[in-house]
Amino acid sequence: MSVHPHSTLHHRILSWYDGHGRDLPWRQPDVSPWGVFVSEVMLQQTPVARVEPRWRDWLDRWPRPADLAREPVGEAIRAWGRLGYPRRAVRLHAAATAMVDQYGGRVPETEAELASLPGVGSYTAAAVAAFAFGLRTVVVDVNVRRVQARVITGLAHAAPGLARTEMQVAAQALPPDPATAVRWNVAVMELGALICTARSPSCPRCPVADLCAWQLAGSPPYDGPARRGQAWEGTDRQLRGAILQVLRDQPGPVGIHALRGDTAAHLPTAADAQRFARCLDSLVADGLVEPRSGNRLSLPR
Ligand code: ADE
Repeated sequence: MSVHPHSTLHHRILSWYDGHGRDLPWRQPDVSPWGVFVSEVMLQQTPVARVEPRWRDWLDRWPRPADLAREPVGEAIRAWGRLGYPRRAVRLHAAATAMVDQYGGRVPETEAELASLPGVGSYTAAAVAAFAFGLRTVVVDVNVRRVQARVITGLAHAAPGLARTEMQVAAQALPPDPATAVRWNVAVMELGALICTARSPSCPRCPVADLCAWQLAGSPPYDGPARRGQAWEGTDRQLRGAILQVLRDQPGPVGIHALRGDTAAHLPTAADAQRFARCLDSLVADGLVEPRSGNRLSLPR
């Protein structure tokens, strides 16, 4: 039998994960595929620490897809709280509905079926297939991309957009055995989250520092295309968040003038009328807010 070119990396990173991986609730062996699915949607753009309590509440309240599907979508938006990018709540509700309508109330098992669900891109489809169903898939999130850029390719950071070559590099690095591949996927992700972080990697604690192409090259600085930060203060995202927060806190519809006044309390600086109108329109277009009679608004019913 030939030795995998990355077998030393596999051994080191998997042993490190055994000793240092976090006991996150969605990694427990008895978690349902739905629990894994919800975790991956929440974790797409939100850090673990903020996801954990919301995930627990969500699974307590809606332990199966059908439990969520029978509720109004506004309840999903309310329960989403401040996880950010709340269209994910609308899509998660739509995905639960599709599971009920098309898959007998269960999370589908193949990457192709998963990818056909609302809000599920190639990352989430691969992650759920691996972590819920034990399939050998190539799971590449921001953490994996950074670890791979450094350890294998020798760059300080991955470029802004996911390149096809990165998927090929990840596919080649994947251990052949499915169960090991699943652990590898989560172990590399964890190395990126805990050690090989974006701003201040802890190379002295890294299990593969002596094999890392970036370290061996003398840690050259990043010189690729500009990487985008996610602005918040003073943005439409922030104002949209403030509007939704007011509507979450209210059981019923709110008049538009009261909504504008209450929203100001959630913002450090005043928002002009035009910006308020633009954000409200976009929330309605995204299915996050429903216009009601008498110039009132609410979460969708
Ligand atoms: N464990 C499984 N998937 C994860 C993710 N996306 N982020 C952090 N931990 C995870």
